[in-house]
Parts: sequence; structure tokens; C-alpha cells
Amino acid sequence: MIFDTHTHYDDEAFDEDREELLASLFQQGIEAVTNVGASIKTSENTLKLVDQYPKVYGAIGVHPNEVLELNEEKLNWLKIQSSHEKIVAIGEIGLDYHWEEPDREVQKTWFIRQLSLAREEKLPVIIHSRDAAKDTLDIMKAEKSEEIGGVIHCFSYGKEMAREYLNMGFYLGIGGVLTFKNAKKLKEVVEYMPMEQLVLETDCPYLAPVPNRGKRNSSLNLPYVVQEISAIKGIPEEEIIKITSQNARKLYRLK
Ligand code: NI
Repeated sequence: MIFDTHTHYDDEAFDEDREELLASLFQQGIEAVTNVGASIKTSENTLKLVDQYPKVYGAIGVHPNEVLELNEEKLNWLKIQSSHEKIVAIGEIGLDYHWEEPDREVQKTWFIRQLSLAREEKLPVIIHSRDAAKDTLDIMKAEKSEEIGGVIHCFSYGKEMAREYLNMGFYLGIGGVLTFKNAKKLKEVVEYMPMEQLVLETDCPYLAPVPNRGKRNSSLNLPYVVQEISAIKGIPEEEIIKITSQNARKLYRLK
């Protein structure tokens, strides 16, 4: 069954029907999901969701656009909470140069601190990297991230960058963007990469695949992504689902 490795079900887009939706997911071929924090608040929300739903795992961490809220006290809070048995990763963390703020040096500092936290807690990382390919890779190499492990979420770079992360043993998170008309570069990456390092993700409520592009996304849309991967790789859909689910369990070190 399908494992959605990156969701934001605590988002207000799900306020109306979160309970029914989550219940229906697990009756409609979704095996499990990982809810990902992007701030202290959404990390708190994630902790609540994992306690409430058996098939929801969680990641906690602060997104590069939110790092101005971090300080030693909050970093320590993340450290304490990360020992929760259903917290399976530190994330999403990384660099995002799409906007001018926060300052790049500030982003780098907290990225490195959260990588160290993951190392100390022996958890994999969920990396968010947007318009920051070189700095992300430089930091991850300098921090010996191959010893930490994890996933590059919503992978958006080309084949050369993919090769670097694949060589470090990282998984690449592939979602709705793959079905977009202008996704030529990502399709090349999927064609090139080994199935053993590919995991499915939605990033819901964002990035719904075609034919639901622009609408609220949920894990129920992942079959469209599976179809696309199947067409690119020439591997049956059931096989894609089986392999990516095994990969997700390895990524998050689940039994
Ligand atoms: Ni996300």
C-alpha cells in the first residue's frame, strides 16, 4: 500500500474534514503518512496528530523560512520532543533562497544546528532546498550528512545534483510536480534514479498532481504520481507502490 512520506494534515485547509479524511485514507489504500512540521507551532500540531492516529508518523523541525523564531530554548524543545516514539525524522529543514528573508547566513546557521540535532538523536532528516542547490550540498557534505541519512523532499534540481544526493545514500521525494507538463527535468531525474531510493510524497495540501492540479491535495492523489512513475520506468504500478513503501519504511527506520 502507498506510504505518503510528506504531508501537512495539520494545515487549516483540512480543518473542515480532517477526521473523516484521515479515516478514509486508511480505508482507501494508504498505508501510512508522515506529517511534517515546518515551525514550532506545526511541530506541536504534528505531535498531537501522531498521538491521535495510529498510522500517522511525524517529523519535527523548523523550515528555513521560519528560522527567525528559533533560539536555544526552542531548539532544546525540539530535542526533547524528538524522542517521542512516533517522531521518525527531523524536518523539514534546509535552505530557501526564493525570498530575500531570512538572511542566508541565519538560514545556514539553523540548518547546521538542526542537522546536528538529527545526528545526536539518530534520526534521518527531511531536507527542503529551493533555489539553493550549491549551498545546501556544500553544507550537507561538510556536515557528513551521509552518516545522518534522510530524504530530499520535493526534489527540484537536475540529474547532476540528484547523483550527488543518491551517492550520499539519500532518498528523493517525488510528488505531484512529476505530472506537470513542464516537469521535463524531474522526469529525467526519475528515469535516471534507482527505484530503491525513490519515495512518494504529496506535500499536501500543496502540489496536487494533474488532473487535480490547483486543488487541495491529499494522499488519495498519489495513484496519479504512481502512474507517471510507472510510465517513465516501465515498471508495473503495483511494483512501484510496493518498492516505495519499503523505501519509506527504511527511510524512517520503521519495523
Ligand atoms: Ni512540506
